[in-house]
Amino acid sequence: MLVPLGDPAGRSAWTVESPDGRQFAVFLLDDGSVRVSDAGCPHRGGPLVEGRVRDGEVRCPWHWYRFDLDTGECRTTDQHHLAVHPVVERDGELDADVGDPPPVLSWSERLRAHAQGDS
Ligand code: FES
Repeated sequence: MLVPLGDPAGRSAWTVESPDGRQFAVFLLDDGSVRVSDAGCPHRGGPLVEGRVRDGEVRCPWHWYRFDLDTGECRTTDQHHLAVHPVVERDGELDADVGDPPPVLSWSERLRAHAQGDS
């Protein structure tokens, strides 16, 4: 699924939403390139768009975990990984390729996944 990144309008970070309601953080780096990640920090859901961006990484504003914006690698701990999404150009506009929405699971499927440690 492609999500238009829109016009930065002077901002260096902003959020966009996919048609299915997922939120993504968009970062305009000093070299003019753009990176896109999930909007919520994988640690406790902090708003990464409010984080400090430097040297290709974002530092979450809540607990200061650092994430590489190219790979999603957490440089603070190996227990978390940030989902990053490729940016593609289409008709002169930039879009994020955010993949398919997660499947909708029944309650029994959610409980089974939780019991197996998948959630
Ligand atoms: S919520 Fe981001 S580091 Fe804790």
